[in-house]
Amino acid sequence: MSFQQQIRNIFVGGIAIAVTAFMFSGCSSNKSKIGNDNAAEQVYVPPGKHDTFYSFLSGGWTGNISVYGLPSGRHLYTIPVFSQDPTDGYGYTEETKALFNTSHGFIPWGDTHHPEFSKTNGIDDGRWLFVNDNNTPRIARVNLKTFRTDEILELPNTAGNHASPFTSSNTEYLTAITRFSIPMSKPLGNGRDVPIASYKKNFKSTASFVKVNPHNGEMKLDFQIMVPPFDYDLGRFGLGPSKDWVFFTDYNSEEAHTMLEINASQKDKDFVLAINWKKVAEIAHEGKGQIVNATYDHNLVDPKTDVAKTEVLHKVRVLKPSDLKGLMFFMPAPKSPHGINVTPSGEFIAEGGKLSTVIPVQSFAKMETAIQKNDTTGSISGIPILNYKDVTAHEVKNVGLGPLHNDFDGKGYAYATAFISSEIVKWNIKTGKVVDRHATYYSPGHLSIPGGDSRKPWGHYLLALNKITKDRYLPTGPEMFAGEQLFDISGNKLKLLLDFPVEGEPHYAQEIPASIIDTGQVKYFKLEDNHNPYVTRKEKDAKVVRNGHRVDIYMTAIRSHFMPDNIEGIKMGDTVYIHVTNIEQEWDIPHGFALMGMRNAGMLIMPGETRSVKWEPRQVGVFPFYCTDFCSALHQEMQGYIRVSPANSNVKIVYGTNKDLK
Ligand code: CUA
Repeated sequence: MSFQQQIRNIFVGGIAIAVTAFMFSGCSSNKSKIGNDNAAEQVYVPPGKHDTFYSFLSGGWTGNISVYGLPSGRHLYTIPVFSQDPTDGYGYTEETKALFNTSHGFIPWGDTHHPEFSKTNGIDDGRWLFVNDNNTPRIARVNLKTFRTDEILELPNTAGNHASPFTSSNTEYLTAITRFSIPMSKPLGNGRDVPIASYKKNFKSTASFVKVNPHNGEMKLDFQIMVPPFDYDLGRFGLGPSKDWVFFTDYNSEEAHTMLEINASQKDKDFVLAINWKKVAEIAHEGKGQIVNATYDHNLVDPKTDVAKTEVLHKVRVLKPSDLKGLMFFMPAPKSPHGINVTPSGEFIAEGGKLSTVIPVQSFAKMETAIQKNDTTGSISGIPILNYKDVTAHEVKNVGLGPLHNDFDGKGYAYATAFISSEIVKWNIKTGKVVDRHATYYSPGHLSIPGGDSRKPWGHYLLALNKITKDRYLPTGPEMFAGEQLFDISGNKLKLLLDFPVEGEPHYAQEIPASIIDTGQVKYFKLEDNHNPYVTRKEKDAKVVRNGHRVDIYMTAIRSHFMPDNIEGIKMGDTVYIHVTNIEQEWDIPHGFALMGMRNAGMLIMPGETRSVKWEPRQVGVFPFYCTDFCSALHQEMQGYIRVSPANSNVKIVYGTNKDLK
């Protein structure tokens, strides 16, 4: 039987099992799961009341983060991160454009996968949310006081930033490791223009360690470690006793570069790469490794001016396994592993092997003992391989087909997603025994329990992030939103409470009790703290300034007018910057700005804030502008005109209200 046939049989078998699981749950326990109990009551949040948890879901190819309330499943907000957002002008305004700069140029799109809270003592602290762009290796930092992206750091010498960004116990570091190995410039590689078939010789991977400033969250690429050219898939820092270590899964230890579905599934085992990051960081700070040239962009919103700026960086410190004896080890893992999760106690590490029928539970204590005994079975690129039996505490059997990810409830149980058999499987961490299972609709990827990846899971709920929606909602043509399912895990049995559709393709989610972040929310920006270089704090300071072919319009917005609202003297060939300051000082009173023929996007300007757009008129005429946000009963009257004259006209700059212009 060919390998392809084997795979096909596994999938066919998977469907059979999924159908069986569906029938099983439908017959035996459906009554207790939906319908006859208080599921509706458990997810019902009455009008005017708030949810108890925030849930932050990556949007996958939307490039953003979507925020939902749990248990209601209400969509609260979308945080634009790697994708331009015409809703508020994010990535279009002069203040935010620089966030999209990379060494490849301006990139208005990304693929978010793994949101990750900052942590204090291994517990989610709700200060920042980090998230990766899988496509162009970048990490973003979202400020959870404003729900805004404040920083985006590009990562050089890597590709396919999938296993990213995970946080250490006190957010000392974020980590990210290469999914797609690539050829690298000298001295790390033999140059970037090489035959693809020279993969084994020329392709490289790195693990990046990004230092996080504990006071303001600012990110700095501290060092990278060269690792063999496998496809690294996911990672986790240790917790408690294992907190000085970080663990990554890899597939394609075959080092294939074509038809990976077959060629990267040859070996019975792949690996977990364990790195003692604490010691490596110490060694790096002593000056070990080499500083190499690499160009990458660091984009940061200046906290004083609220304007994003780009710093182009040119150097990075890179260490090799030969520099790090005793600090890096491979642990054999089930074939083509995907997720890796560290239990809240930090004692165990569980992997989901897509093509394996068991989940191995590896013991950190056993790993330490094996390292002490120097009990290895060879090495790869100078990284010793530990013995699978030596490091494995037990294997969880009967976990369904296609196990991908685990998460933990803080009460001694793990919950695994089985993609092919479409189910959540609950197992006991200590014994490895399966104690419950529940069908999901359909094909869950990640799952998320509030705080489930930390030392202190808040538990209570489990969110299954299903990859396939099919018939769960009213159809919306060929494409539909992904579907999430909320389970109650407070009792012995998983109980399905709610289905709700979500934007894009969420890969992973983070939940946190609402009380940790709701009281700290910024409701408006203080006008006196607005240090945007183009701020207009008072209507009487509004002005239009010509400087050669550049015209700056300093405008204010307040219910229900702009100042100035009539502007003349713009000429063809001018570059016009319109800087609108919302001078309201009250929560939830944004003003919008849209101008006929403006070719980028409208803007939403929050109270106390200044936002600017660039406009290069292409037609002579009078162009109306207006407020796009229904701000008052006289919102519809919030409008104005800009006159554009031929390049050679002698119309002077005049501005104000109609009265001033007469
Ligand atoms: Cu301001 Cu509508």
